Amino acid sequence: MSQQQQQDTTTTTSTTVDEQQQQEDEQLVTPWEVSSKGGIDYNKLIDKFGSTKIEPALIERFERVTGKRAHHFLRRGIFFSHRDLVEILDAYEAGKPFYLYTGRGPSSGSLHFGHLVPFIFTKYLQDVFNVPLVIQMTNDEKYLWKDITLDEALQFTINNVKDIIALGFDIEKTFIFSNVEYIGHLYPNVIKIGKHVTLNQIKGIFGFGDSDACGKFAFPPVQAAPAFADSFPHIFSPTDPATKSIRCLIPCAIDQDPYFRMTRDIAPRLGYPKPSLIHSKFFPALQGHNTKMSASDANSAVYLSDTPQQVKDKVTKHAFSGGRDTKEEQEKYGANLEVDVSYEYLNYFLEDDELLKDIGEKYASGKLLTSQVKQRLVEIMVEINRRHQEARAKVTDDIVKAFMTVRKLNF
Ligand code: TRP
Repeated sequence: MSQQQQQDTTTTTSTTVDEQQQQEDEQLVTPWEVSSKGGIDYNKLIDKFGSTKIEPALIERFERVTGKRAHHFLRRGIFFSHRDLVEILDAYEAGKPFYLYTGRGPSSGSLHFGHLVPFIFTKYLQDVFNVPLVIQMTNDEKYLWKDITLDEALQFTINNVKDIIALGFDIEKTFIFSNVEYIGHLYPNVIKIGKHVTLNQIKGIFGFGDSDACGKFAFPPVQAAPAFADSFPHIFSPTDPATKSIRCLIPCAIDQDPYFRMTRDIAPRLGYPKPSLIHSKFFPALQGHNTKMSASDANSAVYLSDTPQQVKDKVTKHAFSGGRDTKEEQEKYGANLEVDVSYEYLNYFLEDDELLKDIGEKYASGKLLTSQVKQRLVEIMVEINRRHQEARAKVTDDIVKAFMTVRKLNF
């Protein structure tokens, strides 16, 4: 690119402080809050965070290197952004080791459909790459941020771990840890990170203020530490000098990016490779695309523990419709798929591409009514819940303990 061109692109994408303020007012994405007017603009988010859009060529390379079909979350742009995913594909191709890291803040007794997204995708990646996976349960974070007791946070942890195990993770390759218990093992890396990040940086990245609990300021290094392989000496040899260069890939929703921008920033100074990331969009609330499904608002969420009747009631009553007000108008003008929540949920959970396309075309052209699309969705969600509840009932306390035991993995 010539200098002139470069200047041109900078001029067209640069914004004034006022415009930035306006954008921020219309779209807020932090690890604790997601809101927007008229839906999240993900391209804007990529620009703002400085990540990279996942283009079709990268998906093709993924398929070529792994020899596996890309997951529909990738094909449909649900995982839409990344940082250094190419480095992971290079490592895989060269037979170099790497591992997966994801996590969950246990803030409610059951997972909801939105929580499923990163875990379903992480399980797919674990199967495709056949690599170790560590899952951090941030009960410390939820205790600090939510109005819950520490005992409640610990109780939620076990219940959420059961949900996660029920998704089918391989016990030979998966280590799940509760921060409150595992923190001693993480601590050497937590203080190394803490030594290299200033209070000003924490304030700048996370927006904490002087009257926030000091525990919040201390938390980001705790979420960062698992991105460094030597935080797990029982998995990666502590005596092998190559351990520090083992790469990490973090699948997460894009609201977690601030933690890992910080992590990537200090990684080279501590002698580690920068962790790679693959970001998902937010699973919308039943009420619409302006915010994500949230455990803090029971009406916005369909839980994996919901009964068929509850699923049906929630979807029928609350799922925002892009359809028209009357049957006649719907038949004449069709639905707006862009804002229709039920169609968007089908995009996540109806795997059959042909069927999805057919429903989309018929709904948009008025040949299907909202009630029919909702009925289809309810059938799919009820079936996912039925299977999940069956699998979860088989996860005993002993199995939970086994996944959470500090031990060697086989990979
Ligand atoms: N902070 C995340 C949450 O509130 C939990 C988490 C910890 C996480 N480590 C992670 C999520 C790594 C994704 C990737 O849910």
